[in-house]
Amino acid sequence: MLYLSEAQRDAYVRDGFLVIPDFETPEACRALMDEADRLIDGFEMLDDPSVFTTTDQTRTTDAYFLDSGDRIRFFFEAGALGSDGRPNRPKHRAINKIGHALHDLDPVFARASHQRRLADLVADLGMAQPLLMQSMYIMKPPEIGGEVVCHQDSTFLYTEPLSVVGLWLALEDATVENGCMWAIPGGHRDGLRQRFRRDGRGGVATDTLDPAPWPDFVPGHGPHVPLPARQGTLIVLHGLVPHLSPANRSDRPRRAYTLHVVDGAAEYPADNWLQRRADMPARGF
Ligand code: FE2
Repeated sequence: MLYLSEAQRDAYVRDGFLVIPDFETPEACRALMDEADRLIDGFEMLDDPSVFTTTDQTRTTDAYFLDSGDRIRFFFEAGALGSDGRPNRPKHRAINKIGHALHDLDPVFARASHQRRLADLVADLGMAQPLLMQSMYIMKPPEIGGEVVCHQDSTFLYTEPLSVVGLWLALEDATVENGCMWAIPGGHRDGLRQRFRRDGRGGVATDTLDPAPWPDFVPGHGPHVPLPARQGTLIVLHGLVPHLSPANRSDRPRRAYTLHVVDGAAEYPADNWLQRRADMPARGF
C-alpha cells in the first residue's frame, strides 16, 4: 500500500466509497475556488447558455456539451434562467459546473490533479495504468443548486472491463442542508444498470442493462447514507456505487472539484460521450 491503510482499502472494497478527511488544506481549496472565480470572470456569457441538469437528459446533449471533453466549458443551472432564457442572476451564482478538461488546460487545476498522493491512492485500489479522463468544478450554488439524480459513474465513463474511480474533493463544507453526497453502501456489487453513449447521429442514447429501478430516496428511511464532507475532504467513489446529491436550497454554496480516472489497460469505447482530440490524449498523474 502506498497511500491508503489496509483498513481504508477494506472499507472501499466493502462500501464502494471511502471518505478521507483533511486530504487538502483550506488554502489549497481556496486556491482552486479563486482560480475558478478567475475563469468565470473571463467567461463571456452566451445568448443561449447551455444548461446542465440530470433530471432532463435531453438538455445535456447539445454540441456545446458533447464537445467539452477536452475543453473548459461552463454549464448553467436550470433555475438560473428566466422565462426569456437569459440568466436571472450574476454568473458566479448561476453556473452549475465547469468541465471537463480543467485538469489538463488550467495550470492551477492541473497541479491539484496531477499529484503523487492521488496516483498512490488509485494504485492502492488496483488501477494499473491511470488516465485522468474528466474533471468538473461543481458549483451547487445557493437556492438553485440542482439535484443530481441517483447514478453510477460507469454509466457515463464506461470501459471494458469497468474501471472508473471518482475523486470528489469538498472545497467547502458539504452538509445535509446544502446538498452533500449520498451513496448506497455495498451497491457497487450489483452491476451496471445503464450506459450513456453517443448514438452515432450527433445525439446520445441510454442503454438499459438492468431495468431494476433505484430505491426511492427518502432521507433517513432507505439504503442511502449521507456523506457529509468538511472542507478538504476527499471522497473516493467506485464507478458502480449508486450515489446522488439533492438540490441545494440553502443559502450556502457547496463547491466541489471532481476528477474521474479510468484504467488505460481497459478498452475506452469510441461511442463514450466524452471524447478527446487525438492530439490531446488523456494522461496519467
Ligand atoms: Fe457521479
